[in-house]
Amino acid sequence: MLLQQSSTIRGLGKATELAHVRCIHGAGVRGVRPLRHHAAHERLRRCRIAEVKVESPVTDKNPTTETETSHTADTFSWTKAWYPVAAVENLDAAKPNKVTLLGKDYVLWADAAGQWRCFEDRCPHRLATLSDGLVDKQRGEIVCAYHGWRFQGDGKCTAIPQALDATSAATACASKRSCATALPTAEGAGLLWVWPDLAPTAAADSAATAVPVLPQLQDDKLVPLQGRWMTRDLPYSWDFFVENVMDPTHVDFAHHGVAGFDATKFVTQDLRLHQDRGPAGFVYQVVPSDPHKRGSYIHFNPPSLVTLQPGPDPEPRPQQRKSRGADDARPGSEDPNVLSGLIFYIAPTKPGWCRLHGTSWVADRAMQPLKTASLFTNAMPTWVKHILGFEFFAGDDVFLGAAAKKYVAEGGDWRKSYYTPTRADAAIVAMRKWMENHAGGGIPFPEHMQGASTVLANLNLTPRQAMDRYSQHVQHCSHCKAALSKTQAVAAAALATAVAALAAACLAASVRATAALSPAAVPGWLLGVAGAGGQLFGLAGPLLLLGLAAAGVHVVAKKLEGLFHYREFTRPAF
Ligand code: FES
Ligand SMILES: [Fe+2]
Repeated sequence: MLLQQSSTIRGLGKATELAHVRCIHGAGVRGVRPLRHHAAHERLRRCRIAEVKVESPVTDKNPTTETETSHTADTFSWTKAWYPVAAVENLDAAKPNKVTLLGKDYVLWADAAGQWRCFEDRCPHRLATLSDGLVDKQRGEIVCAYHGWRFQGDGKCTAIPQALDATSAATACASKRSCATALPTAEGAGLLWVWPDLAPTAAADSAATAVPVLPQLQDDKLVPLQGRWMTRDLPYSWDFFVENVMDPTHVDFAHHGVAGFDATKFVTQDLRLHQDRGPAGFVYQVVPSDPHKRGSYIHFNPPSLVTLQPGPDPEPRPQQRKSRGADDARPGSEDPNVLSGLIFYIAPTKPGWCRLHGTSWVADRAMQPLKTASLFTNAMPTWVKHILGFEFFAGDDVFLGAAAKKYVAEGGDWRKSYYTPTRADAAIVAMRKWMENHAGGGIPFPEHMQGASTVLANLNLTPRQAMDRYSQHVQHCSHCKAALSKTQAVAAAALATAVAALAAACLAASVRATAALSPAAVPGWLLGVAGAGGQLFGLAGPLLLLGLAAAGVHVVAKKLEGLFHYREFTRPAF
């Protein structure tokens, strides 16, 4: 079963033992490492040189039975890799931040120098969650809130308040068993990356492996459409979301009526293997059957990166030709002067769930920022782009979690459960084969999480829960959180204004009416309070209008507030 591999098979049994004794002192841990443009470029350049180009025939063979992967002997290690765990702009340096990766909880925290550290979310004393502790910014330490033990950035314990004297405290702190387990971290393209390996070689291995940040991400101007990153915890298994973004022919149907996609204008696309990188993934060329439409290239760089790019290289290059053709491809646009691409970093968090960091970029043919796109970017707040992103996601949401549940319930065998007779599914089949041939058949979640029952339990969600925007995104997004609290403040202020204005209008109108009919019946003090000596009686009309306008603002603000939580999806017919 794909999702039920024993972690011991992949050597994690040993790694788990190491977790109890491992402690990295001093230089053993690399801290946050700002990624330099040339480092990523050099890594990708080397990657291109090492790749073997494989052209597949233009036939509609059944990709279920066609073997397109040649590096069957090579293996991919899920733990010896960089994973993006959070957008740095969304982390709170004043406190511990909890994240989950490969079924394990981690705590991210910033030390005195502002470097982001990642520890296993367990205190070595008695397993309290460090993510519920405190950060001592001045001393650059994380503090377990259960008994007050303190840890510095490399995991070393610096204080045990229960020790009776300094000597016994020093002895206990010198023990490796007193240390928190620190993982290598790096910062690149606005994301925090973690190397979730507990082997003694983790520091050296991670230092020798470049963070997979694409060159176009080095320039903020090329990623304008969705803000820097759209982060979302998705209630679908990692493999199901990877399939989804490798599947260009679902878009016109699943997203019909959104962002210009139209199922009635669907043009099928042929997926041709362009490069087989063995354990390092593959590249597929997407060729529309309509010669007037342009295709693209799907890049799969495991474990987390999937891109839809205009060209076959990881780094899009300036394009000189104006003619149209399959190699001159631009996803999502027919303007011959516009290049664009989609970038998805997808990290498996727990069985049935993954975390997406997605963005898109637009440039002219010389790979320079587009002025019109920049205007669009600057004009639209990031939170609006994120809300619109949810509207787009909704077309897939209803399918993927349910499909992931069926998949494990049916035994987790894609050959048995899928019927994929066209080459439109070729990249999905290639990914499934990559999992089998290079990646141990599945994600090495901890042993106690193995099995279909964990996936089914984690995906046992109501439609409302499966599409809950707040828990999956807003609570982690600095832009949306700020917009939500402003919206709530506007709603509350508008409600208070409406109540006060309508009450004042009613009072003024009733006092005026009473005074006109029977002046003696209105006490003098009421005339003073309600009408400021009678002068405000004439304001009953304007107060009424103000009250109604404020009530309208309140209703709109509450509707907007709702969009940060949930919106029922209605699929337009096609
Ligand atoms: S459990 Fe953390 S200090 Fe005791
Ligand atoms: Fe957001």
